[in-house]
Amino acid sequence: MERILIVDDEHSMREFLEIMLTQEGYGVTLAGDGRQACDLLDREAFDLVVTDIRMKDVNGLDVLKKAKAVDPNAVVVLISAFATAETAVEAMKEGAYDYIPKPFKVNEFKKIVREALASRQPSPDAPEDATTGRRKHFDLLVGESPQMRKVYDFIRRVAATRSNILISGESGTGKELVARAVHRLSDRKEKPFVVINCAGIPENLIESELFGYKKGAFTGAAADKEGLFDVANGGTVFLDEVGELTPAIQVKLLRVIQERTYTAVGGTEEKRVDVRFISATNKDLEEEVIAKKFREDLYFRLNVIHIHMPPLREREGDLPLLAQHFLERYSRELGKDIRKVSAYAMDILKQYAFPGNVRELENIIERSVALETSNIVLPESLTLSNLQRDRERMNRRRTDLGPEGIDLEKVLGQMEGEYIIKAMRLAHGKKQRAAELLGISMRSLRYRMSKLGLG
Ligand SMILES: Nc1ncnc2c1ncn2[C@@H]1O[C@H](COP(=O)(O)OP(=O)(O)OP(=O)(O)O)[C@@H](O)[C@H]1O
Ligand SMILES: [Mg+2]
Repeated sequence: MERILIVDDEHSMREFLEIMLTQEGYGVTLAGDGRQACDLLDREAFDLVVTDIRMKDVNGLDVLKKAKAVDPNAVVVLISAFATAETAVEAMKEGAYDYIPKPFKVNEFKKIVREALASRQPSPDAPEDATTGRRKHFDLLVGESPQMRKVYDFIRRVAATRSNILISGESGTGKELVARAVHRLSDRKEKPFVVINCAGIPENLIESELFGYKKGAFTGAAADKEGLFDVANGGTVFLDEVGELTPAIQVKLLRVIQERTYTAVGGTEEKRVDVRFISATNKDLEEEVIAKKFREDLYFRLNVIHIHMPPLREREGDLPLLAQHFLERYSRELGKDIRKVSAYAMDILKQYAFPGNVRELENIIERSVALETSNIVLPESLTLSNLQRDRERMNRRRTDLGPEGIDLEKVLGQMEGEYIIKAMRLAHGKKQRAAELLGISMRSLRYRMSKLGLG
């Protein structure tokens, strides 16, 4: 049984946490103040310490330091009223696992406890990436949502064939990674994986890029040059943004696929080529075919097998895994010691629609790792222009009134609480400044806070 030490000077809170965690099957020990907690830490070992920050004499920060002194790997979670948000940040720097803002929801609390305990004991059964502790499929793809599991299954089934594959999906959903996974799993894996960015090569160059050229084929062609198909022979060609191919190139490509031969620019000799084509597009290629912008015959040749990548916002549960994956990667690359995305920051990310999908998440995490000064990603270091806009939209949507009606008092109370918490955070816990930010008097702020149980 995992043992948890609860430290809180408030009797009702201790009792509440004890009942809740005991029901969850944990062994719970209680301490009514910091001094008692330090004594216990000297005598007994705990898997997790959960402590209130604000206590008389020996406070939560002292308990944290004590726990770390006894065992550097101790896992400590702090409970903070927002007035102590600054202390909570300091606690993160001292090596706390996370802090739980008061008031909290029971489920959030249980979740953080589970995660904190898991951080101490990585599950032994799943094959894991040694450096991140998270499972990577085909050594490339992170995510355990049902949609992604389907994609993994599909990759496994089609990799061994030589059928051409078309991967569709919004920008940043991982299309190129899937293509690489297929190649890696196929019997072509020892041969090259060649990426051709169909949007990036100018029309007049694409032919010589793809097929190579002969000496003297055009001004400047001083010697024979190999094309990408020469390089890719026996391997996989990844046609990225295939919807951007011009009609002239579409014809030439169709010939390569049908005849499996091509001719260098300025050459006469027909060369044989054996490649598998994997194409990717964020357009609706079928629509392009209907609009006569993309050749139907080429479309059918490329789209023998179709894989669709779901947008990130529809992948239940992948966001935290991916966020942690990128966090660890950039933390390592940038030489920082940031271990976790705080619960606050994760909440904000969860509300976001990620129009740029995984790539956008990766950029957001990279930036916040660069900006973050504590050892946990806090909301302040999430620089999110779109994110902000999205949240505002979400908030506006809240005013929708459906046939099932709403509880106006409750909704208004929630909004009030959120604004107050935001203001208090911005004001670093200074009530006078928070009241100014909210355009109300100190008295009114105090009243509202106590009414909402935020005092
Ligand atoms: N499931 C995943 N696990 C880990 N990293 C991922 C995953 N999906 C995407 N990425 C990362 O996100 C970024 C974008 O992925 P990728 O280039 O494969 O997307 P794409 O669909 O080809 O996007 P675009 O259409 O914009 O070219 C890459 O840095 C990639 O490593
Ligand atoms: Mg791509």
